[in-house]
Amino acid sequence: MTIDACWTRLDQLKGAATARPILSLFDDPDRASGFSAGFDGMLFDYSKTAIDHVTRQALLDLAQAADLQARRAAMFAGEKINETEGRAVLHTALRAQGDEVIMVDGQDVMPQVRRTLARMGSFATDLRSGRIKGQGGAITDVVNIGIGGSDLGPAMAVLALAPYHDGPRCHFVSNVDGAHIADTLERLDPARTLVIVASKTFTTIETMTNAATARDWMAASVADPGAQFVALSSAGDKAAAFGIAADRVFGFEDWVGGRYSMWGPIGLSLMLAIGPERFHQMLAGAAAMDAHFQQAPLAENLPVLLALTGVWHRQVLGHASRAVLPYDQRLSRLPAYLQQLEMESNGKRVAMDGSDLARPSGPVVWGEPGTNGQHAFYQLIHQGTDVIPCEFLIAAQGHEPELAHQHRLLIANCLAQSEALMRGRSLDTARAMMAAKGLSGTELDAQARHRVFPGNRPSVTLAYDRLTPRRLGQIVALYEHRVFVEGVILGVNSFDQWGVELGKELATALQPLLEGADAAAKDGSTRGLIGFLTGR
Ligand code: F6P
Repeated sequence: MTIDACWTRLDQLKGAATARPILSLFDDPDRASGFSAGFDGMLFDYSKTAIDHVTRQALLDLAQAADLQARRAAMFAGEKINETEGRAVLHTALRAQGDEVIMVDGQDVMPQVRRTLARMGSFATDLRSGRIKGQGGAITDVVNIGIGGSDLGPAMAVLALAPYHDGPRCHFVSNVDGAHIADTLERLDPARTLVIVASKTFTTIETMTNAATARDWMAASVADPGAQFVALSSAGDKAAAFGIAADRVFGFEDWVGGRYSMWGPIGLSLMLAIGPERFHQMLAGAAAMDAHFQQAPLAENLPVLLALTGVWHRQVLGHASRAVLPYDQRLSRLPAYLQQLEMESNGKRVAMDGSDLARPSGPVVWGEPGTNGQHAFYQLIHQGTDVIPCEFLIAAQGHEPELAHQHRLLIANCLAQSEALMRGRSLDTARAMMAAKGLSGTELDAQARHRVFPGNRPSVTLAYDRLTPRRLGQIVALYEHRVFVEGVILGVNSFDQWGVELGKELATALQPLLEGADAAAKDGSTRGLIGFLTGR
């Protein structure tokens, strides 16, 4: 079947699929087991969606027609699938286990990957043990200065793995707003702080500005500020020009995309926090997911199934956003991490060949941890006019055995939400509730309508045993591959980000106008705002 025929088939199926209550699919006693898939201690349940056997087959056909298997093989083999930048896409090489050979431009990239990982390991071990010191004693605090992919991954993971954090405290500065670095440095002792400048390009204005501020702060207190700086970058020459010694530069290649980079040098802050061994466990978890993605049949393949639910909800049914709702406080930065991963990857309106997309681009991704979101925006999810597919994440166990009763309450809340979304509450039930409260007549009618939940709202749930380093690696790799599959089906290049360029260019051009240069060429609104903000 051609890909166009697959889309047409899905369009034909959507009317019947959405007219039928999701709850009615559970008349089949095997619904839950038939529409979930497991892998290595994780369970992905997509039974609370309208996807049935026929729709699933149509979605799998779509993946086949998009040539998913060939594209997947091309990515893992180091082919230059990032065509608009002429680059391979090999973040998977950063976590490859064993003695794999991965060729790019006729060269095996793995020896260099292993050398860098080993250098990171020795540096982390020496710093954590106090052998590498600051000028005022052992390093107590690490400040990672980076933005986007050079911030979100390690910041998310350091928080996620807090129970394993036995190294120095880690802080993350990203925003060019001076408030961010000022508030962070205020509490720190420069003589016992390590500053990591994390920037693939070493040109990003936010990062370079914050790095200069940190260097001035350090220089005011210690004799050799450069000695307490580390760079994580593909641009070793620029890091050297900034004054960072070569043995403190951890490099990586252009085939690691920024938002896919937490597995290598960009993860150094995480490695300092949890130690090399646990960092390796996280890499091994991600590598296990890589193997599953490559080997499992499409119908049992977690990244493929997660992607197909996404395509069904966004590109077939047209739901504009999806909510990621981790019932796991330590995954509170996961939605922000996924916003970059998913929206910078698949938020595109042209296909790889430059033609307009026939389908909507990737959805808006947003979310907050449960149960907090329940007391904020779930009102809209349950009773608003738009359907928002939800993605729940929940662990069987927390890391606080003494608070197991709280964890049970957390699980109950998570399961209650997906059930409520699916089941809803009918007008009859709402009326009966109001009648039981003594209401009658028009007042009962009016009050009952506010208490109706339409239900039939889809969700998927990713359940896992515990948020260990290995499990986190698997979860993040799962989402990376989901984004890849969705990108292949859409036909976009998931690995460039041209849409961030224009704003950067205009910001650079605007800076002199804020210092008094002539703004006449700007539109009236921008001129007016410059006038207000500069008091001129
Ligand atoms: O926002 C665009 C972007 O290029 C992201 O893709 C990237 O993660 C971020 O900026 C930071 O880039 P760098 O690591 O080069 O400073």
